Amino acid sequence: MSRFTCKDPVVLDLWHAIASADEAVDGAISTTVLLEDPVAFTRSETGDPVVWTYPARTEPELPADPADHLPVLERYGYVWTSFGTPPPDLFPIPEYGEKDRRNIHAATFGVNVSAPRAIENFLDMGHFPYVHTDILGAEPHTEVREYEVEISEERDEIVATNCKFFQPMAAAASSGGTDVDYIYRVPHPYCSVLYKSSPLDESRFDVIAVFVQPVDQEHVRAHMMLTLLDETSEDTAIRLFQQTIFGQDKPILENQYPKRLPLDPRAETPIRADKSAIAYRRWLTKKGITYGVIPAAA
Ligand SMILES: [Fe+2]
Repeated sequence: MSRFTCKDPVVLDLWHAIASADEAVDGAISTTVLLEDPVAFTRSETGDPVVWTYPARTEPELPADPADHLPVLERYGYVWTSFGTPPPDLFPIPEYGEKDRRNIHAATFGVNVSAPRAIENFLDMGHFPYVHTDILGAEPHTEVREYEVEISEERDEIVATNCKFFQPMAAAASSGGTDVDYIYRVPHPYCSVLYKSSPLDESRFDVIAVFVQPVDQEHVRAHMMLTLLDETSEDTAIRLFQQTIFGQDKPILENQYPKRLPLDPRAETPIRADKSAIAYRRWLTKKGITYGVIPAAA
C-alpha cells in the first residue's frame, strides 16, 4: 500500500508540476502540497531541483539520503515530481525549444475545483463570449463550429483540431477581432496544451499550456505557461492578459457543482460543442482515474 494519502495508482505514477523553476533556489527550502501530502523542494549546489515529502506540521529538512528524494524533472519552466514510478519523460512540446519564441511562466492560480474540471473548462470554447466577453469572444459570435476530436493511441493523448472561434482580442499582441484557429492537446490527465494562431504570423501558433497541480481532490494550483512568437509585448502585459482571462474563469470554476468531474456519460447532458469534453471523460474512464472525478458506475 502506498505511503501517500492519494491511493489512485494512475495518478501516483504521473508527473505533477509543483512550482515554477525559479521558485527552486539553492539555499532555500520552499513548500507546497501535492495530492494532500506536504512536499518540499530546493535546488542543489549542482543546479538540480530536489523534491521530497515531509511530515505535516514539521519543518522540512533536506533528507541526506537521495533514496528519500522524490523523482524530479525540470521541464517547460517548472519543477515536476511524482509519488510513484513516472514515465521516463514528459509529453513533448517541441515549440518550447524554438529559438525565436519567448517562454513565459504567466502565473500560478489557486482554484477551489478539481483538476479535471479545470482541464475541461480550458477545452471549452462555448464559454468564451459569455465569460471572456469582448476578449476571447463576443455576441453574436456564440456558435461553436464543428471541429474534430481524436484520441491518438500512439501518443496516448486527445487532440481536437480545426477549432475556429471569432475573438475580439485573442492575445496581448492583437490589434482587432479575428477568427482564431485552435488546436487542443490533452497529453496528460491534468495538463492541456493549446495552440492558437499567432496574431503576428498566420502560419504559426502561439502555445498556451496549463499544468494543473492537484493539491487535493477539489483544490488545484494551475500553472500557466506560454510560448509566444510575440517579441515586443512586455512580459508584464502578457502576464496581465492571462491573469485577466484566468480571473474571469476562476469564479465560474469555483461554482461548478459537483467540484469533481462526473465521468458517467449520463451525469451531465452533453451538447455537440462538448465533443472534446466527452472524449476527455471517456479517456479518464479508460485510464481508470479515480482522483478528482466521480467514476462512472460499473
Ligand atoms: Fe475561460
